[in-house]
Amino acid sequence: MRIRALRVNHMENPIGYRMERTVFSWKVDEAKGTRQDAAQILVYADRACRELIYDSTLRPELDSIGTELPIPLRPRTRYFWRVIVESDAGERAESELAFFETGKRDEPWQATWIGCQSADSRHPLFQKTISLTGELAAARLYICGLGLYEAYLNDRKIGDEYLTPHYNDYDRWLQTDTYDVTAQLNDRATLSVLLGNGWYKGRFSFFENDTAGKYGQDFRLIAELHLDYTDGRHEVIGTDESWDVGASHITFSGIYDGEHRDDTLPPLSLGKACRLPAPPAPLTDRMSVPVRAYREWKPTALIHTPAGETVLDLGQNFSGIFRLQVNEARGQTTRLQFGELLQGGNFYRDNLRTAKAEYVYISGGEPVELTPHFTFYGYRYVKLEGISDLQPEDFTAVGLSSCESQIGSVETGHALVNRLIENARWGLLSNSLDVPTDCPQRDERLGWTGDAQVFSSTALSLYDLHAFYAKYLYDMAREQEAQDGCVPNYIPSQGASACSAAWGDAACIIPWNLYETYGDPSILADSYDSMKVWVEYIRRVDAENHGWSRAEHFGDWLALDHESGDANENSGATDKGFIAQVYYMQSAEILSKSASVLGKADDAANYGALAARLRDHIQFEYFSGSGRCCVNTQTAYLLALRHGLSVDEDYIRQRLRELFFFKSDKLLTGFVGTPLALPTLSEHGMGGLAAKLLLNEDYPGWLYAVKLGATTIWERWDSLLADGSISGTGMNSLNHYAYGSVVEWIIRYAGGLRQAVGSVGYRRVLVAPELNWQLRWMRTEFDSPVGRYVISWELTTPRHVTLRVSVPFGGEALVRLPDSADKTEKQLGAGEYEFSYETVRPLKPELSASSPISALYENEKIKAMILARLPELQVLKKSMWDHPLDQLLLAVAGFVGLPDREIMAQEVIPYLAREIRRLDTE
Ligand code: BGC
Repeated sequence: MRIRALRVNHMENPIGYRMERTVFSWKVDEAKGTRQDAAQILVYADRACRELIYDSTLRPELDSIGTELPIPLRPRTRYFWRVIVESDAGERAESELAFFETGKRDEPWQATWIGCQSADSRHPLFQKTISLTGELAAARLYICGLGLYEAYLNDRKIGDEYLTPHYNDYDRWLQTDTYDVTAQLNDRATLSVLLGNGWYKGRFSFFENDTAGKYGQDFRLIAELHLDYTDGRHEVIGTDESWDVGASHITFSGIYDGEHRDDTLPPLSLGKACRLPAPPAPLTDRMSVPVRAYREWKPTALIHTPAGETVLDLGQNFSGIFRLQVNEARGQTTRLQFGELLQGGNFYRDNLRTAKAEYVYISGGEPVELTPHFTFYGYRYVKLEGISDLQPEDFTAVGLSSCESQIGSVETGHALVNRLIENARWGLLSNSLDVPTDCPQRDERLGWTGDAQVFSSTALSLYDLHAFYAKYLYDMAREQEAQDGCVPNYIPSQGASACSAAWGDAACIIPWNLYETYGDPSILADSYDSMKVWVEYIRRVDAENHGWSRAEHFGDWLALDHESGDANENSGATDKGFIAQVYYMQSAEILSKSASVLGKADDAANYGALAARLRDHIQFEYFSGSGRCCVNTQTAYLLALRHGLSVDEDYIRQRLRELFFFKSDKLLTGFVGTPLALPTLSEHGMGGLAAKLLLNEDYPGWLYAVKLGATTIWERWDSLLADGSISGTGMNSLNHYAYGSVVEWIIRYAGGLRQAVGSVGYRRVLVAPELNWQLRWMRTEFDSPVGRYVISWELTTPRHVTLRVSVPFGGEALVRLPDSADKTEKQLGAGEYEFSYETVRPLKPELSASSPISALYENEKIKAMILARLPELQVLKKSMWDHPLDQLLLAVAGFVGLPDREIMAQEVIPYLAREIRRLDTE
C-alpha cells in the first residue's frame, strides 16, 4: 500500500499562499484492501520530525479527499506533515514527509514601497547588494512589483514563474510572492528586480480608447529578503531609499502590444530609489498558481510567403513567448509579429484587432538570446524581419500556462475526434494564464465569466485546477463587494459593471462544479457569500415584474439561428429572458444545495423555495399547460429537458428531435446551448444523435474545424469558411475554448466515466459508455480525488465488446453493461475488472430503409437500385441525404411525380427495404 498525492489546499508543497484554512488530502494505491479504515495526520515543526505540533490520532473519520487542520498558523513558517493510513485489509502505510509554508499572513511589512525617477520609457531595474554576515540557514524573498516583475540573484532569475505578481483587481488586493532563495544566495550577491507594464499599467482594456492603464501609472516595488543564520540571528533586508535604480534596455512592454528592447542605449543610472506611499489595496499572500513554461519546441516549417515574408510555423496554435538567437550589426532592427493563421499563403493578423502582438529589437552588435519578459502572444505563425540568416532552430516556442498537472485524458479510435480533444486541451492550456480567459491573442484576453462557466467541467476533467479556480472565485467575490453583488462580465472587471445571465451565474456554477469534482466543501464555504449576493442581486433586478428577463443579456451567444438570418447577429434566436430565468433558477437551486451541504438549513429552505417559485414562473410564462414550449429553438428545448421544465417530456424530446431533423441533424446552438446539447441528448435516450452531432464533419460541427486544420477550438462555428478564408475580423479568434466543452460529453457519455448521482469527489462513478462503431474504442482515465479510474472499451467486431474498468482504492463503480442482454447493475469496489460479451444489437449499422440516404448511397448497387425504382430522387439535394430514406419518402410522397403516400408506405418502401437488405448482405 502506498500513499501519494499529498496536497494542502489542493496544492503540492505550497509556499507562501494565502491560507484561511488548511485542507489536507491524499490518495492511496497499490493496496490489497479496497478502502481506508482510519487515518492519522501528524504535523511537525521541523524536517527531522522532532517537534510534533499536531497529532490527529488514528481516526476513521479523517477523509482522504479533504480534512481540515484545526490549528492556527504562524506567518513565514514551514510545517511538515505526513499521514498514516490503515486499510480494510489490515494494511498500514505511512506517507513520505510533505510540507507547506506560510507567507507573511498579517505580519506588517518592514520594507517600504519604492519607485524611481522616470527614464522616459526605459523600464527600471532596482538593485541591492546583499552581504551575508554568517552561515546561512534559510533565505526567503517576499515580493510584489507592479505592473509585473522579474527578480534575479546575480543575474539568475529567481523561480521559474512568468508574469508575476499575476492578474487580479489591483485596486482591491495585491499578491505577495514567496521564494525560497537559500540555495541561490552567496556571501555577496546582487538582488535585482526588473519591472514592466502588464495588466496593472499600460494598455490593457476592453475599451479601445483606454490606453493609460486602469490601476496605476508608476512602477512600484516592495520586497523583503529574510535571512536566517545558523547561529539563530534573523536579518531582514527590505526595499528602501538605499536601493539603486538603473534604466534597462526594455523600452516598451504591454500585454496586447508586445515588447521592445534597444541594446544601443547606454547604461543609465537613475540614482537611488524613492519612497512611495503604500497603495490603497492590501498586500495579501498569493492565491494565483504559477504560470510556467510547460513545453518548448522548434518550428515545423520556415515559409517564404507569396508576399515575400519570412514566416515560421510552430505547427500548433498556443499562448506563450519565445526564445530567439540573433547576431545582427549594431543598430539593425529586428521585428517579430505573431498571428494565428495564413491567408492566401501570407502572414495574417487582422483578427487580432488593435493588438500589435510584436517584439522589436535594436541590436547592440553582439550575439544575444531574445525573450520577452512582460507580455505573451497567442500564435502559431511568426513573421520575422531584419534577420540576416534565419535558421529555424534559432527560434524556440515557449508555451505558458497555469495548467500544470494533467489528471485526465481520453482517446478514441477516431483520428479526427482525437484531434478535437487535443484542440480543446490546447485551448485550455492557452486560456489559463492566471485567469481563465476568452482568448489569448487579440485585444481582449479577459476573464469572461461565461466562457469559464461553460468550459469549467471539461477543464476539471483534464487538469488539476482547484487552486486556479479558487483564485478566480476569490477575485469574483471581491468584485461583487464593490458592485452590490453583481458579477461583472469579466473578472477582473477593470471597473466595468455590466452583467449577463449564464455569464454571472459562473458565481454559482463554478464552485458547484469544483465541489462535485473534488468533494471538498471548503470551496462552497469560501464562495458562499459570493453565490448568495449574486442570487440576491438578480432578485433585486427581477423585483415584482421579472425585470431580470428584460435586462441586457448575451443570450445564446454566437448561435446560428437568429431570426434575421444574419450571422453577425450574435445572440441567437432563443429568448434571452427565458435563458435568464432558467439560469436564475439554476443558481438559486445551487445556492440551496450548497446551503444544505454547509448546514445552513434556513437558507437551504428559502432558496429552495425561491427556485421552486422561479420554476413555476418559467412554466407559466414559457410553457403551455400541457407542456408545449413557446421558445422554439434547439437551445430552449435543451434547457427544458435539462431542467425538467415541461410536464410532457416525451413531447419535448420528440420536438427537439424534429428541430434537429429539419436542420439535417446539425447544431444551431451557441454558448448556452452547445455545452448542454450532447449530455442532454444522452440523458434523454438520444445518444445516437449526440454521437452523430459529434461525428458530423460538415459545417456547423466540431470536426468541420478539425478537417480545416484547426489545432485549437474556434470562437465561431465558421471562424474559417470552407475554402480556408477567415469569415470576419471583428470577433473571430481561433483559440476560444467554449465549444471545446464537448469533451465533457466525450469523457462522460462516450467514454462512460461520470459520477453517480449524488456522489462528490468521485467516490462513486457510473460506468455506462455509449458504444459507437465509428469510434471503435475509447480509453478514459481520471486521477480523481480518490484515485485513478480507467475505463476502456473496444468493439472487436460489430457485435462484440470488451469493457475494462479499473476502480481506485476508496472508489466504487456502478457498471451498466452497454448493449448487453445482462441488464443488472454491477457494483464494483476497488480493483480491475473485465467484461467481454456479445452485444444485443450490431453496432455497425446494418443498412435498412430507415438508414440515412447518405449511408445507403455509399453502396453503389443500392444507390443504383433506389434510383432505378425512383428516378425522381436524382434531383434530391445533397443537404437532404442525412435523412432516413423511409421518412423522407413519406414526407415527399405525391410530389414531383412520386407515388402517393399510401403506395409509398405499402409498396415502395417494403420493396426498397427487401432489396436493401439483400444487397447489403451480398
Ligand atoms: C468574448 C466572448 C465573451 C463575449 C461576451 C466576447 O468578446 O470573446 O467569449 O463571452 O464577448 O458575449
